[in-house]
Amino acid sequence: MIELVFLSAGVLLLLSTQFRNQIMAIFKRFSFASSSPVEEKAKSSPVSEAKNGKGYMGNDTIQEPTPLMITPEEVAMYDDRPWRPFRWPYHQTMSIFKLDINHWLDMDKYYQHYIDEKKRIRLKFGKQNFDCLPEGKDACVELMEMVVDHMVKRYPLLFVVLKNGDWATEGKIVRNEVTKEILDMTLPLKQDPLVFISKLAKEDFYIVKKNEKDGLHYLVAAAVPFPGGSFGIDQKIGRNLDVIHTDVPYYETKLKRSMERWFEKMRPEDPVERASWYITWDTMLKVNNIYQRPEFKPNLEADMKGTDLREFNVRVERQTLRRLPRSNAIIFTNHPVFYSIDEMKDEPMVPSLIKKILYEGPEDILKYKNFAFVRDHLSPYLDSLIQRQKDLGIITDETPLKTQPSYPFAYWVKDDTSKNDFQGWNNPSPSYSKAHMKTAGFDTAKLAPNE
Ligand code: HEM
Repeated sequence: MIELVFLSAGVLLLLSTQFRNQIMAIFKRFSFASSSPVEEKAKSSPVSEAKNGKGYMGNDTIQEPTPLMITPEEVAMYDDRPWRPFRWPYHQTMSIFKLDINHWLDMDKYYQHYIDEKKRIRLKFGKQNFDCLPEGKDACVELMEMVVDHMVKRYPLLFVVLKNGDWATEGKIVRNEVTKEILDMTLPLKQDPLVFISKLAKEDFYIVKKNEKDGLHYLVAAAVPFPGGSFGIDQKIGRNLDVIHTDVPYYETKLKRSMERWFEKMRPEDPVERASWYITWDTMLKVNNIYQRPEFKPNLEADMKGTDLREFNVRVERQTLRRLPRSNAIIFTNHPVFYSIDEMKDEPMVPSLIKKILYEGPEDILKYKNFAFVRDHLSPYLDSLIQRQKDLGIITDETPLKTQPSYPFAYWVKDDTSKNDFQGWNNPSPSYSKAHMKTAGFDTAKLAPNE
């Protein structure tokens, strides 16, 4: 049946929306509809720390994505799940959720811009952001195959198979209907698999393998154009996860052992996701202002203070972890999404939670995220938003300040009706404009040398 779906893709591209909707109704009857955040929530309750070390096992088979029949034109208005990963009390924990495989590689209106930026950054910075060690080659090829198979099954109208050869003997040719590029992945491969991957998916990819001699996990390949902070992959490649996380607050005391236990048990059938966040006043993908260095941008403080408060964003780093079945490598993806504080201002407790975390979160996390640089400037604005919520009756003085029931998503993602199949999730706030593109439009000629 799934083959039937993507064999029909080229034909469906030509169909009218009305007829396509009828076809979709039939697909849904055969339970191919994408799952709603509510289903995800029910299915993806947080995988607790307690379970992590005790062999929590999710599914028995590797999940396959279900088709989402959006067209290339509809991608331009499509919003993906709205993350609100604000926790209080705030402790450093793995905070992982079971991943619905439909969301392994997300799609949204920023797709074209992210793919364009990946190419620009790859050509300008090369091995600073894209690299593969010899011991990672097999995993990179396996990952490319998995990414292609995922994209053509999940988004059949966006990625059309022109040649469907066996991966082991022939390879495939796929047309990306959004960028209009034809990707010739027939064997022998004419480009690095990481390049093909970066022309298909918005996510950054880290490929990690266990060294059986010392039992440690090493970064053996990476396609990471959007690290956000001021590190390059050239500083991380070939290093093990302990070294990579050296600067991460409470890694030794709160994360290391849970992560080791998790990786020991993790099977290809058990993908998970997590999200972390920080605040910045720009929407750059490679290096954000909050992590910029004065030698590259001398007037950071003036720049920050001169920026309209409505342009301050939470950058959510949405991450997934899954294991490749053949090479046994662990794939860690990272995908930045920007949400302005302004567009979240009427969501219960969001300004209160942000303010609380900025001032009272764990000390080392405050330092790592550079919160002190922005918080005094943001504080009166956040106070005004908190007062606004009280004036509008969204919260009262008695509303408890704690993680919200809809965590890690926005409160308005409460049922399937808040999602439109072909537009994604629609933020009901009047401050939110679906047509506004946050990350597009900067002048590349004016970027700092490290971006
Ligand atoms: C369950 C698994 C993992 C957990 C819980 C985890 C957790 C974290 C945390 C808490 C941070 C600090 C930033 C933040 O707040 O998110 C971080 C940073 C980072 N993680 Fe992980 N991580 C995991 C797996 C991985 C893997 C597999 C890689 C692959 C190499 C990786 C690479 C990184 C990098 C490059 C950074 C930035 C370090 C820096 O700022 O220099 N992480 N991680």
